[in-house]
Amino acid sequence: MRSKVTVRDFLKKKQCGERIVMVTAYDYVMARLVDMAGVDGILVGDSVAMTMLGLDSTVRIGMRTILHHLSAVSRAKPRALVVADMPFGSYEINPEDALRNAIKLVRHGAEAVKLEGGIEIFNVVERLVKAGIPVMGHIGLNPQRALVLGGYRLMGKDVDQAIKIVEDAKALEEAGVFAIVIEHTAAEVAAEVTKRVKVPTICIGSGPYCDGQILVLHDILGLSENPPYFAKVYRDLSKEIIDAVREFINEVRSGQFPSKQHYKSMRSEEYAKFIEKLSQSQS
Ligand code: KIV
Repeated sequence: MRSKVTVRDFLKKKQCGERIVMVTAYDYVMARLVDMAGVDGILVGDSVAMTMLGLDSTVRIGMRTILHHLSAVSRAKPRALVVADMPFGSYEINPEDALRNAIKLVRHGAEAVKLEGGIEIFNVVERLVKAGIPVMGHIGLNPQRALVLGGYRLMGKDVDQAIKIVEDAKALEEAGVFAIVIEHTAAEVAAEVTKRVKVPTICIGSGPYCDGQILVLHDILGLSENPPYFAKVYRDLSKEIIDAVREFINEVRSGQFPSKQHYKSMRSEEYAKFIEKLSQSQS
């Protein structure tokens, strides 16, 4: 059996030039399956707001929702590193409040937490790391700030933004993160960040020049209504699910289901007595 993945393995992988692979998962079943597939890390992402709960933004959920899904994922006892998103509102108030929330996540099974932001969250990251909680950074596009950004736009297209992203990465490294997610950022900028920091970069929609890649599981499986252009849809499970349920509907309506292997009968002597008793009680 392969041993548990830790944050140190992430660092080692960067040093050895081995690519890191992560996906999101939000429940016991999917956590078990993606772990069996062999991912290095599972993110209990705040994307659960859209993928599972039908909300329009990650800012709509808080600690209670993440804790609920994290508990389910951790019950699968994955070999992969379990990282939990700190939801909007759980780390912005002050570092002590952030620490209280991060501790709750760890108590519910997180082996690391992920926070969106750069230089502006330096103190928070430092506080969590000093308390013994591994932190994954998240720069480039920060969906929790989409209201300020005016949407989910590509980041790092101009020099000023690109420099700011590199500076954010350096600040997070100094604050003690063990890895950095770079989301929806020009590939050249992600490549420069990857060269300039010692911790691994894990990209989503930021090109191939990173130390690893992460995708939202529902996008990979064809379960998202509108997957982003940068996500590859590897299977169409929506079609599989619709087809399977349609077959069930048809078989029930036509009387094909349930068939002999799906039910059990009484012994014939017992059945005869049963009918006898029924006829006596009705007469
Ligand atoms: O919540 C999430 O799924 C994420 C990924 C986009 C990295 O943060």
